[in-house]
Amino acid sequence: MNRTFIKVAQTNVPVKIEGFLERIRNTRNMAFLVVRDRSGALQATIKKEQHPDWTEVLDHLTLESVVSLEGTIQENPQVKLGGRELIPTRLEPLSLAAALPLSKDANIDTRLDYRWIDLRAEKERLIFEVQTCLVSAMRTFLVERDFLEIHTPKLIAAASESGADVFEVDYFDQKAYLAQSPQFYKQMAMASGFERIFETGPVFRAEKSYTNRHTTEFTGFDLEFSYIESFHDVMQLEAELLTYALSQVQTRYGEAITRLYGKEVVVPKLPFPVIALPELYRELEQRYGYYLPESERGDTTTEAEQLSYRFSMEEFGHEFLLITDFAAQKRAFYHMRKEGVPQGYDLVWRGVEITTGAQREHRYDVLCQQANERGLGEDVRFYTEFFRYGCPPHGGFGLGVDRLTMLLLGIGIKEAMFLFRSPNRLTP
Ligand code: 4AD
Ligand code: MG
Repeated sequence: MNRTFIKVAQTNVPVKIEGFLERIRNTRNMAFLVVRDRSGALQATIKKEQHPDWTEVLDHLTLESVVSLEGTIQENPQVKLGGRELIPTRLEPLSLAAALPLSKDANIDTRLDYRWIDLRAEKERLIFEVQTCLVSAMRTFLVERDFLEIHTPKLIAAASESGADVFEVDYFDQKAYLAQSPQFYKQMAMASGFERIFETGPVFRAEKSYTNRHTTEFTGFDLEFSYIESFHDVMQLEAELLTYALSQVQTRYGEAITRLYGKEVVVPKLPFPVIALPELYRELEQRYGYYLPESERGDTTTEAEQLSYRFSMEEFGHEFLLITDFAAQKRAFYHMRKEGVPQGYDLVWRGVEITTGAQREHRYDVLCQQANERGLGEDVRFYTEFFRYGCPPHGGFGLGVDRLTMLLLGIGIKEAMFLFRSPNRLTP
């Protein structure tokens, strides 16, 4: 017999149900088992006198064991769990569970030690249902606009973002690095005439940060496209992309997110508000008394990002804020500059940076010069070569998928990831 999901299993016909045992009540005459699969939970009601040969099995069943049951489901208004119960004719344990190492109120670090058990809860699974929806909506949006999906190498010869945050690996008789972003290769695709590409994949950062939004390995959603007029085209595309993805999430999971996480999914309005960084600092100072010395105002800070959420809600009634006009020395060498100002932005959602984007410098001489200023000339020669033989003007961005998920649900990054990685966590 084929297995059926509990949610769609019909009454009064033979069915096969398989799942984890969520509850066991084994009395003298009756046994009640609550079985849970991905779709829901169902009570199996066993009259022991009808199955004298099951006594041994029933006595050995443990919580979270995996069982297989066949029988018929009957309506029974007295059963709290959905008003129906399975009357089994066959019971087979598929895998007996040892005593559980995880209590309901375990802290997040203990939960991560036993993540596979932690993930059995509906609330945890929702994270990945929502993430699947987000990423697949973004993919659909881009494929419909003729973007190609590419997969670039993660073993690379030079750091793309900053030399300090890169993992070095032994690569036969030379050094290699784990990619901190697909930056170099998504730009190569522009020099290849692909015009529009995206990639979603692993990104590595050797950052010793212990915050609720940093990890050493995360999933990036990156895109790049050609023949833009300015980085405003990049911001516009990202705003449309996120609006589409969030509308999909709201339709399919809005209710579940509110029920399990107490968060409302707000589909943002277009266009997203934009503010230049110096202007933002003036606002934060005037409105909230947040003061940062002038010399440090070329970049955002954690506090400034958090306050910018309050500002954006008050001023624009918008959860998203695009910030432009960062200082050149705080931005990557490959950002195009106009009168010394990097032609890029950060996108902050609910007070946390989710994206950095920019128009790239595609003019070979200028790019080499900007790389040389950072002392990178030799290291990135393979990359600057991409721009020697013709390359259209282009731009793009890198979006952190884990941050997106985490902010959507109002949780920390440890919980938002399938398996979190940090300087002191490499297992499971
Ligand atoms: O801001 P980042 O470093 O930008 C880049 O990688 C550029 N190549 C993007 C571009 O096209 N100009 O990283 C992009 C995003 C961040 O905005 C953030 O969402 C996420 O990646 N991110 C992290 N997420 C979790 N843990 C970390 N340590 C992260 N570092 C960056
Ligand atoms: Mg950034």
